[in-house]
Amino acid sequence: MNILVTAGATREPIDPVRYLTNRSSGKMGYALAKAGTTLGHRITLISGPTSLDIPPNIDFIPVETAQEMLEAVKANIGGQDAAIFSAAVADYRPSSLSDKKIKKTADSLTLELVKNPDILGSARLQFKYDGILVGFAAETENLEINAREKLCRKACDLIVANDISQKGIGFDSDHNEVLLVYPERTRLLPVDSKERLAHTIIEAVHELRTGTG
Ligand code: CTP
Repeated sequence: MNILVTAGATREPIDPVRYLTNRSSGKMGYALAKAGTTLGHRITLISGPTSLDIPPNIDFIPVETAQEMLEAVKANIGGQDAAIFSAAVADYRPSSLSDKKIKKTADSLTLELVKNPDILGSARLQFKYDGILVGFAAETENLEINAREKLCRKACDLIVANDISQKGIGFDSDHNEVLLVYPERTRLLPVDSKERLAHTIIEAVHELRTGTG
């Protein structure tokens, strides 16, 4: 299969030295890319900045902002058998970018934020993508209900849901526990390394593509 993976956090600039981002390490997305190549698939990895090594034998497309990630996805999603959106895209960006460093002259500073495009949500309607579509959901409550809502709203075949309120797994950890949420069923993948979970997720995506799941 040809598989596109988005990974990492996006970085939304405020001025030449500052930006907004989040705690995503990119580990899950990079593990998916590595598992994909190990299992014989062709991987295109579109990634925000991370401290991770670029996995070998993949097409790697580095991006910074959500807007750049959207453009990269739009340009590369055609011809993919599956697209897995594990990136932690910043939901908002500063409404304007200062070309000079903002000086600390005032006692308070208000940043106006505007909504970023929903990249996963654009796949079906805007990009007319008809391959297997997989999203991630990071939730602190009502894991399955919220994931299932995302599955429908973003027209996905599968949502990989993780409860980020659980200590020691998920964000920035080497381990995670995820719930695979399909339209008709769920499957729990108990706590495991992100490498092993990534293998199982790629196999699950392959089953969806070949109709053997
Ligand atoms: N996602 C995306 N583009 C965005 C926001 C999210 O592609 N601008 C993708 C993520 O990569 C993930 C999925 O959408 O696969 C879920 O992201 P999340 O932020 O949890 O979903 P939201 O729709 O933003 O819902 P909420 O803010 O209610 O959690």
